[in-house]
Amino acid sequence: MQQLAQRRVVKGAPRSPAVHRATHGALRVTRKPVALAAAATTAATTVVEPVQTDAVAASGEGAVAPAVSPAPASNTFQWHSEWYPVGIIEDLDPRRPHATHLLGIPLALWKDAQGQWRAVEDRCSHRLAPLSEGRVEKDGTLQCAYHGWQFDGRGACTHIPQLRNDEKAQQVACASRRSCVRAYPTQVAHGLLWVLPDSSAAGWEKAGTVPVTAIPELLAPGGSANGRSQFGNWYARDMPVRFDILAENLLDPAHLPFAHHGVMGNRNKEQGSSTTLRTDTMGVAGFVCDAKLNGPEGTVSWQAPSLIKYEFGSLPFITLLYCVPAKPGWSRFYSATVLDANVKSAIPGPAIALVKLISNIRWFDHVTRRHLILDGDTYMLHVQERLLLEKNNDWRGAYYMPAPADGSVVATRRWFDEHGGAVPTCEPGVQLPPQMSKEAVLERYHQHTKNCKDCSQALRNVETATWLAAGGGVLAALVLVARAVAGLPLLAPESVAPALAGAVCGGLVAVLQALRQQFIFVDYVHQDKK
Ligand code: FES
Ligand SMILES: [Fe+2]
Repeated sequence: MQQLAQRRVVKGAPRSPAVHRATHGALRVTRKPVALAAAATTAATTVVEPVQTDAVAASGEGAVAPAVSPAPASNTFQWHSEWYPVGIIEDLDPRRPHATHLLGIPLALWKDAQGQWRAVEDRCSHRLAPLSEGRVEKDGTLQCAYHGWQFDGRGACTHIPQLRNDEKAQQVACASRRSCVRAYPTQVAHGLLWVLPDSSAAGWEKAGTVPVTAIPELLAPGGSANGRSQFGNWYARDMPVRFDILAENLLDPAHLPFAHHGVMGNRNKEQGSSTTLRTDTMGVAGFVCDAKLNGPEGTVSWQAPSLIKYEFGSLPFITLLYCVPAKPGWSRFYSATVLDANVKSAIPGPAIALVKLISNIRWFDHVTRRHLILDGDTYMLHVQERLLLEKNNDWRGAYYMPAPADGSVVATRRWFDEHGGAVPTCEPGVQLPPQMSKEAVLERYHQHTKNCKDCSQALRNVETATWLAAGGGVLAALVLVARAVAGLPLLAPESVAPALAGAVCGGLVAVLQALRQQFIFVDYVHQDKK
């Protein structure tokens, strides 16, 4: 739908002031935890129990692994005091643990026996093995695969198999602070699993009051209110791009007609777009820019720590993009589209329904549209960030931005300078991983397919179908060989059926191989985009 939405942006009419105001208002209220917390708690299940068990507290050592809660500074964004999406719920297999990174912290995620998603540091307290390689036990604890230590959702060690015959030693060890792993608050909201990356007691306290960054209506029961609801499916991809560079890119609508020509823009229709910061919106919570994209007008906004919103009044769609700092040189991207039924547009209802139907075939939507959009610029960003680093991240000196279209990029950079402080995964001195080849940057399997329920199933289906088609082709060939061995003429009516079957199977194998490649890697060559 993003593709359709962006195409409509180019052709559409001016924005509606009501939607415009709504964007501005949403940004402001987001920083009022009480107002939004009420909305958030209606649909979200937040895991905010205290992290100390009585038994552990009684030991005098406490169950909370050492953690530092950052000192508050009102004008500097507190990166560790906010919720971040770490996974799409429908893609997270509840039968096994999952590995991810957030703000440079390795995390193991799993669903416990009470049905709560849990997040702990992915590092066993025994000898540092990754807990995400472990097993979810029947009692809901996470068992380390190396020596079998078990941990609950609060990070406390509950069982050490090697001390099975010494109950006292078992109790002492499990009550020791040193046997604990850091545990982080989690909640499920708007189809995503969110983590607040502060394992301290203060972090768990904050979890009950800080709302997730989303359009409030989407957090209502059923994910819909006031005519606003999600349209189509969630998409996520790990991207080998530094967090601030990806944020800068996602807040830059001027690149759409060029980097995404033919996918969500047209390079031949650039007529002088512009983005202008609404100066009164710039603050620690983010900012709003007015955007004119070759005619249509709307807003593009940044809602720290991760949400970028595109709203154009002539369209009933709002584009939500989440940009999450995962680890140095890597970000995770999430996108979704919101339908605002209150906005009247020229797009006929049946057309909207058809697009929704197609976009709900997730694997098809992902390989034919979502991947293509990211493939248009990921490699350029991967190279750009290294060149900027060579200039000590001095964007003012390294970039030359004379056009009004650069307004939102300047605003983004200003926000990071004035409010970002030490941006996790991008702090001065953090080294980027070595530059990757274009093939590695654009590979799809590890960045998306293996983590996407529908794409991984589609890939398995394609591979099975390929084997069946190949088997059919071999059978058809064997029939022809048997006829030849038996001395029967090959150019006979009886040979037509096996020959045709062989040709069809061969063609099918070729088509399926091409489809399989869509889940693995597809090159993106701008010169070839006519
Ligand atoms: S490293 Fe986890 S139990 Fe030994
Ligand atoms: Fe997918």
